Amino acid sequence: MEKDGSVKRIIISKEGRKFYVKDLSQDYHTQFGFIRKEELSREDGSEVVSNIGEKMRIISPSFIDRYRKIRRAPQIIPLKDMAAIIAETGVSRDSLVIDAGTGSGALACFLANYAKKVVSYEIREDFFRVASENVKLLGLSNIELKNKNVYDGIDEKDVGLITFDLPEPWLAVKSAEQALKIGGFIVSYSPTIPQVMDFSAEMKKHPCFQHIKTIEIIERQWEVEERKVRPKSQEIGHSGFLSFYRRIC
Ligand SMILES: C[S@@+](CC[C@H](N)C(=O)[O-])C[C@H]1O[C@@H](n2cnc3c(N)ncnc32)[C@H](O)[C@@H]1O
Repeated sequence: MEKDGSVKRIIISKEGRKFYVKDLSQDYHTQFGFIRKEELSREDGSEVVSNIGEKMRIISPSFIDRYRKIRRAPQIIPLKDMAAIIAETGVSRDSLVIDAGTGSGALACFLANYAKKVVSYEIREDFFRVASENVKLLGLSNIELKNKNVYDGIDEKDVGLITFDLPEPWLAVKSAEQALKIGGFIVSYSPTIPQVMDFSAEMKKHPCFQHIKTIEIIERQWEVEERKVRPKSQEIGHSGFLSFYRRIC
């Protein structure tokens, strides 16, 4: 099996701890002892036993397991926000998607799992390289990464969805309008309110864009342990605001 850095198998302990195995040619060491390399290729759901007798289960990774292990360079968009983008825009196997800036490529890769094709623009060469590695790790063939300044223009036409995770998304609105097909969506993700305000002010200058909504998604995780059922104490705080617009003319 090729040593390409991707996750090949997942070992799950009794407590639910996950161990991501990337190299099947060596024994895998965990805090519960090691699993012999011969055991690593057992069929999904098999029980594997470590050298100190700890029983664990082994499964194959799915997209989301491999996605969780991608390399992170700049801050990535959390899953809760990505889910909202997919749900609100209905991105599907017919959709051409433009994404900018690529960053680590997290959103681009996630969208590529649903869309026909994703083209993503990144101004920095170092991030462009990190994202290229991540695309390779996930084995996605429907992503094109461009090491380009998106403020200089978007090359594609007839686009169904444009996502911006940029410091100044308002500078890309004109090009976005030309690239987007009628009925297509723009979603801008910004951590701060002044960015939302400046983006909204620019969008108002383009009457063919209808504001759908601006939202912030708060996810509250709960501990569920017998009768100790309560919100987890370490909450994820604010991530960003999502502004949804649609081109209607
Ligand atoms: C917060 S990161 C994006 C993270 C990305 N959404 C993800 O999920 O991995 C913002 C990125 O935008 C890039 N960027 C900033 N200005 C840009 C521009 N004019 N054109 C293209 N990329 C740009 C930055 O270099 C940075 O990598």
